[in-house]
Amino acid sequence: MHIIPVKDFNDLGRKASQFIIQLVREKPDAVLGLATGSTPKSTYKELIQDHRLNGTSYQHVRTVNLDEYVGLAKDNPNSYHYFMRDQFFNHIDIPDRNIYIPNGLASDLDEECRRYDRLITELGGVDLQILGIGRNGHIGFNEPGTSFEVMTHVVDLTLDTRKANARFFNTLEEVPKQAITMGIKNILQSRSILLLASGPSKADAMARLLNESKITNAFPASSLHQHRNVTVIADEDALSMVYLERRA
Ligand code: PGA
Repeated sequence: MHIIPVKDFNDLGRKASQFIIQLVREKPDAVLGLATGSTPKSTYKELIQDHRLNGTSYQHVRTVNLDEYVGLAKDNPNSYHYFMRDQFFNHIDIPDRNIYIPNGLASDLDEECRRYDRLITELGGVDLQILGIGRNGHIGFNEPGTSFEVMTHVVDLTLDTRKANARFFNTLEEVPKQAITMGIKNILQSRSILLLASGPSKADAMARLLNESKITNAFPASSLHQHRNVTVIADEDALSMVYLERRA
């Protein structure tokens, strides 16, 4: 695991965007695995700015998102479909046909999961997967206890995760109780992974990930120790409990 310490959230965006821009320049039809949440926002902002200033094109890029809530329409401002358009896709030149996000309104959710797995295979797999990390170590919506062997699946969200995401909804009750998420097996099949973390609320999770090398289902992000090409970009607050020698 390669660790890149950065100062703050904006720095995180600048550094992470450099990885993505370099990949897209080298491989214009790259498959990007994308994430939602607060953490990647500064990265998307930088990518949009680079697209405007330097013309980096996403005409041939394909994107697959990690997850989507069950039961929210695409135009619901809390859906991840909406988030991605608002934060990224509407501001670059990616064609709609190249954008893939699980359909949380599918009538047969299990079939939707199998379809998503087939789709990723047909695209040739993910070149670079962007990940955030939950306070409980979840990646995507793979909550503690999830087998590392499952592919895309429907999950029951933990109360902790629903509370963490409740800030975007009017009430906790409105936060969906289920989501579709790529499994840890999908994530580990990506050719490279960029894990992003910012802020003091991630300090515990980063300490557990980076100070320990134990791989356990109880802490899903620990599965990343099994992958050979993981880069962690994290800011000072997120790294505040990580041993100094590991931060050098
Ligand atoms: P956040 O979420 O970026 O909003 O902190 C990350 C996650 O829970 O995976």
